[in-house]
Amino acid sequence: MSDQPSSVTSRIPGFYRERIEERLRTMIETGLLSEKSAQHLRDGGRLTLDVADRMSENVIAVHGLPLSIALNFRVNHRDVLVPMAVEEPSVVAAASNAARQVRMTGGFFGEATAPIMTTQVQFDDVPNPRQARARVEAERERIFKVADEAIPGMVKRGGGCRDMDVRVLDEEHGVLVVHLYVDVGDAMGANVVDAVAEAVAPEIREFTGGTVGLRILSNLSIRRRVRLHCEVSADVLGGPDLAEGVVKASRFAELDPYRAVTHNKGVMNGVDAVALAMGQDWRSIEAGAHAFASLTGTYKPLVVWRRTESGIRGELDMPLAVGIVGGSTRVHRGVRAGFELMGVTSAGELAIVMAAAGMASNLAALRALAGEGIQRGHMRLHSRKQEVHENARLQTKAVERGGQ
Ligand code: MEV
Repeated sequence: MSDQPSSVTSRIPGFYRERIEERLRTMIETGLLSEKSAQHLRDGGRLTLDVADRMSENVIAVHGLPLSIALNFRVNHRDVLVPMAVEEPSVVAAASNAARQVRMTGGFFGEATAPIMTTQVQFDDVPNPRQARARVEAERERIFKVADEAIPGMVKRGGGCRDMDVRVLDEEHGVLVVHLYVDVGDAMGANVVDAVAEAVAPEIREFTGGTVGLRILSNLSIRRRVRLHCEVSADVLGGPDLAEGVVKASRFAELDPYRAVTHNKGVMNGVDAVALAMGQDWRSIEAGAHAFASLTGTYKPLVVWRRTESGIRGELDMPLAVGIVGGSTRVHRGVRAGFELMGVTSAGELAIVMAAAGMASNLAALRALAGEGIQRGHMRLHSRKQEVHENARLQTKAVERGGQ
């Protein structure tokens, strides 16, 4: 986030009360949003039909969603504006509210691993899978060379093949799978690693025998992870009972997959909303998150909360395969505006901010559930929104009357 103006604050009280035009002005005043992008957003932020027609097939229109900014986020000592595209009411307000509580104890802290994607090559009817595994392992340097030759642009940018695993899945049917781990830099990397899988398959077959099966990335990007933590004091949360309630809710999710899935849905409320706003492949993110959650054989929460002396501490660990180049990051002007606002300069930074949004969403949900319940919070927010709209309507009427 090196180019971000140092004066940027994500704490903008009363933002929700402003009209959309005023909110856009506020965003321009941060120095992040360009006039050009603001104008695009002012016009509705939609894709043109022409661009849409190039992005997909059989296009008949574009489909809209509200694009919002979640406030109050402080991530690794920096304030960051968090674009979110989501249809569900309360998600943005809840995340902003939790981020405000977290920032009082410094914000979110964490790191992303190197951007290592996993790709798989399947072999069937391998005559002697164990022996084949040993032969493939002995040829790793040769396989890496073929892999890198398939992605010269990525290698030039500092990426390339880094590691390999060979797994025998079924001895009887000779099913063997080779994983290649590829550094894809700031790309999401699906195309890059698919190209690698296709390139190395015939080479590897020389050592395995049998037939080549699938050659495709794994959406369980186990080596491309984000780990975050944050703390909230019990006072800020609303008292020791609420702190205790959040920790008990976390324990419930750790003990029960039926609860863990809903807990994780709350995490993904934040992650997916940012993913959508930032033009990311949210299906792959969802698939990866849930596969990771069940990797131990029992479905587990992606975020857990523990009691500290003064409040609670949360920890998140999840795979996040996202990119800041390629995909719709260049063609979609609304996504480009999102990148201006968030100001991230690497895929890892984007992943960290997305994970922070997930953690905030989870905290807000658990706090509400441990306290007054989710419905009352929703209703309060709904009536606050109605009030703001009614005031804006009356103001507009008064201005119109004054002009007559
Ligand atoms: C609703 O979108 C998300 C929640 O169900 C999450 C949770 O139960 O933790 C409130």
